[in-house]
Amino acid sequence: MHFSPRRLTRRSLLRYAAGSTMAAIALGYLRPGRGQSVDLEKLCTLFPLNSRCEDYAAGVAAIGASGQPLNPEDLKTTAKIGDRVLAQGLAKPVYLVITEPGAIAPYAISTVCTHFGCIVNWQAETRKFICPCHESQFDDLGRVVRGPAPRNLGLTTVILKPDQVRLAEVAPAIDPR
Ligand code: FES
Repeated sequence: MHFSPRRLTRRSLLRYAAGSTMAAIALGYLRPGRGQSVDLEKLCTLFPLNSRCEDYAAGVAAIGASGQPLNPEDLKTTAKIGDRVLAQGLAKPVYLVITEPGAIAPYAISTVCTHFGCIVNWQAETRKFICPCHESQFDDLGRVVRGPAPRNLGLTTVILKPDQVRLAEVAPAIDPR
């Protein structure tokens, strides 16, 4: 864009400034550089199927009871519909939700009781999460069914890759409750 002092009006100056800002944002987003990993982490956490995320793994690997990373293919054979599978990797463990044979929900249920922060346990027989500290109970999606816990258990994001289950400490796009 060429400016001559005589033709530089307020309107053209504003248009130029707006165009420059948009270009800077676009370049900052697309250009590889220092901020890329942060941008990709956000992008791929929120939109794991985005084409830019094929080779990028947002979040942390979900670790199973054996101490090894959980593999979606293995869960197809070991987990049943309705199972809750304990997964480590974040600051506190979470429970994965098996919705169909081999299908893992895109959200996981936090194990942290909303009363005083004890770690709840899954009881498959009653299909409830039970807090060992003051006996709060939560249903199979983490909703409070008995206090003193004041709120439902939290949810985190699960990102599924062909050979990996990953966890991200952000609210999931889908809230089943
Ligand atoms: S910490 Fe869970 S009921 Fe009190």
